[in-house]
Amino acid sequence: SVQELEKIFQQKIDQEIKIEPKDWMPDAYRKTLVRQISQHAHSEIIGMLPEGNWITRAPSLKRKAILLAKVQDEAGHGLYLYAATETLGTSREQTMDDLISGKAKYSSIFNYPTLTWGDIGAVGWLVDGAAILNQVMLCRTSYGPYSRANIRICKEESFHQRQGFEILLVLSQGTPEQKAICQDAINRWWWPSLMMFGPKDGESTHSEQSTIWKIKRKSNDELRQQFVNMIAEQVKILGMTLPDPDLKYNEATKNYDFGEIDWNEFWNVVKGNGPCNKQRLDTRRKAHENGAWVRAAAEAHAAKRAARKQQ
Ligand code: 3HC
Repeated sequence: SVQELEKIFQQKIDQEIKIEPKDWMPDAYRKTLVRQISQHAHSEIIGMLPEGNWITRAPSLKRKAILLAKVQDEAGHGLYLYAATETLGTSREQTMDDLISGKAKYSSIFNYPTLTWGDIGAVGWLVDGAAILNQVMLCRTSYGPYSRANIRICKEESFHQRQGFEILLVLSQGTPEQKAICQDAINRWWWPSLMMFGPKDGESTHSEQSTIWKIKRKSNDELRQQFVNMIAEQVKILGMTLPDPDLKYNEATKNYDFGEIDWNEFWNVVKGNGPCNKQRLDTRRKAHENGAWVRAAAEAHAAKRAARKQQ
């Protein structure tokens, strides 16, 4: 019976046995994984856009080469994750259509513009820094293909964060104008980076069930607090400040207390009304349309090869 199958399934989860594509799994487990993994993949692909915006304008050949490598990495991360989504029985076309049609979510953070070169440093340091905390946790997620995808992703992420911090470190040691660029970028990316971890635990739709199924190993607020503690220390090395007057080390809890996140802004951006939502989807839609002939040619080539094999 389904009850027995569910019991065996939960025992495997409790015994830290990875769930693999061919294993029986509750429909709701499959459904929430398709939701989360496809949105994670979309985030990687959309995340290429704010950074790609500066590849032609990087201040040196070295910075251009590093940024090119990073944006290429994000494309690869997206492919690992789309492949993990397919192991759950959802086609790549369906997943891509969900993004292009505006139905699927992707991380809110990528709906903000990269206005200066300092933003490329802030994105690497803060956005990839937040993503690393989340993705290190996801290395231990209960679904095998998703866990293995995150293990590969994390191998490349620390370089992403370090190169971002280094960009800001150089700016922070530069002219007064460069120092101002550094501080301005931190001011604009700080609060949106905190929103990456999702709603407060009390408002999180999926956390409880995702924790029982060990999809999620740490709560949204736990990871957010870990992130604030880490960045509140690192920002001192830059000689810069975080735009939060309530940020204060709490001796009792050994955590940094911090101010209230603007949840109206968060839900507004998630709903599609952020500064760049329309631009991001238009760019993806155009790329998808312009790439249709490549997909058609690849399919025709594959059909010919299959027909030749038949002969
Ligand atoms: N942006 C957009 N939507 C968000 C969000 C965000 N920052 N945070 C939460 N949401 C959505 C959730 O998707 C969910 O909506 P849905 O039911 O339609 O999917 C709703 O808000 C409620 O949130 P929950 O906390 O209940 O949702 P989850 O349990 O899924 O937790 C999460 C949210 C922690 C983001 C989780 O989905 C997750 O770990 N996702 C995979 C990792 C990921 O996407 N990381 C961020 C981007 S990747 C990146 O930055 C790459 C880097 O290399 C550049």
